[in-house]
Amino acid sequence: PPQGRYEAENAVISRGVVESNHAGYSGTGFVNYDNATGSYVEFTVTAAAAGPARVRLRYANGTTANRRMNVAGTVLDFPGTGAWTTWQTKTVTLPLNAGSNVIRATATTSNGGPNLDYLEVAP
Ligand code: GCU
Repeated sequence: PPQGRYEAENAVISRGVVESNHAGYSGTGFVNYDNATGSYVEFTVTAAAAGPARVRLRYANGTTANRRMNVAGTVLDFPGTGAWTTWQTKTVTLPLNAGSNVIRATATTSNGGPNLDYLEVAP
């Protein structure tokens, strides 16, 4: 995989399942969040140096409801992508420490999160 890519199916998942029934994902699948507030996917990301980093989340949302999530303290919109097979990215700048960083993406609505494919840190 490209440098800095962390597949959701390899992350820590709380209330969600790995699935592969909607094409277009990277790796071996994606995470289908349970339709519940507080369900999350947690990545452990390694950064070479401390400082702000561009973090990209690839997702699909086949509904018309915004599946807003809290990503490491920042609330982000994950609006509908038109189909569960249509994947888009959402980018946020997050402050990272040198070494290990835990980045949790938590659903803030009872619909749960979107289907999540990966998190990528710009090298
Ligand atoms: C459908 C879809 C899933 C999705 C779910 C949801 O069941 O097939 O991939 O996760 O809706 O609403 O979260």
